[in-house]
Amino acid sequence: MAQKVLWVRKGTEGTGGFGEGGFPAVHQPSDVRFRRVAAEIDTRIDRLPPFPTVLTELIALTQRDDSDADELRSCVEKDPVIAARLLKLANSAFYSPRSSVTSIQQSVVMLGRQTVRSLAMAAATLKFLSGGFEAYGMGGGGLWLHSYGTAELARRFARLAGGEEDLQESVYVGGLLHDIGKIVLSGILTDAVAHGDSSLRGRRDENVRDWEKRVAGVTHAAVGEMIAEKWKLAPVTVRCVRCHHSCDGGEEHYEKEVQLVTLADAGARRLGMGLGEADENPDREERAMGVLGISGSGFAEVLNEYEERSADAGDLFSLLG
Ligand SMILES: [Fe+2]
Ligand SMILES: [Fe+2]
Repeated sequence: MAQKVLWVRKGTEGTGGFGEGGFPAVHQPSDVRFRRVAAEIDTRIDRLPPFPTVLTELIALTQRDDSDADELRSCVEKDPVIAARLLKLANSAFYSPRSSVTSIQQSVVMLGRQTVRSLAMAAATLKFLSGGFEAYGMGGGGLWLHSYGTAELARRFARLAGGEEDLQESVYVGGLLHDIGKIVLSGILTDAVAHGDSSLRGRRDENVRDWEKRVAGVTHAAVGEMIAEKWKLAPVTVRCVRCHHSCDGGEEHYEKEVQLVTLADAGARRLGMGLGEADENPDREERAMGVLGISGSGFAEVLNEYEERSADAGDLFSLLG
């Protein structure tokens, strides 16, 4: 594939405070309409199904150095839907096995532990990420594709930045879940636009986060943080969800993980994965690369290398779905 020169802007991203995403961090929106929205968000978050058990267990496996193939097999086998999806994939043209793969054990031998674990995690997120989220212009599968691409790129950037396997795995999870706020906020935005006054209709010349704050008083990152806490996700994942657009950071706040997910999120958009528009804040790439010690050409190489595989992600979604 021909090398592409990817545009990288100069400058640094302005970082807002922790509460810049909107009212959940404050819990006291002053505007009456925003108070109603806050109550509705609480209700919808309460109604969310529990975080899939298989996903909790798979994430736990990524956090342990001593986990083995048997544990992975028994974890996947506990969820027949995920197990069936994995076998379908292992037997697909993606992997073209010489003979048919009939057990999870065989799929682990053939694909390797990391691949099976990642695919199982990606398959498990279909439950809540695969729908259409119209407020964001994403049809069925759009958010899943974007999340999957972000996770895959986050792992690659972690490797490029010299991160060990635990960092690679932790940002994979962060990438997969970084936009979970959209699963609740999309419906809130659609309703607010449909039932609110005409000033709420249509995006002005503003980025998605400014639009979210104007219409709902809150961003998907802040709503995502609330969901991540309800689902009792690890603090590092909560932080990646909350801060993937901006936050004041520092080492004590999982700065490296946050910047890896941020860079991967921006990269997935550049590859056209799931979202129909360019990154609204390209400066965040520059900041992330600075924190991570990744050069513009390193960033471009990872994207170019992943680009061909990203084209297969749609087929992967069809196979898993
Ligand atoms: Fe986002
Ligand atoms: Fe994103």
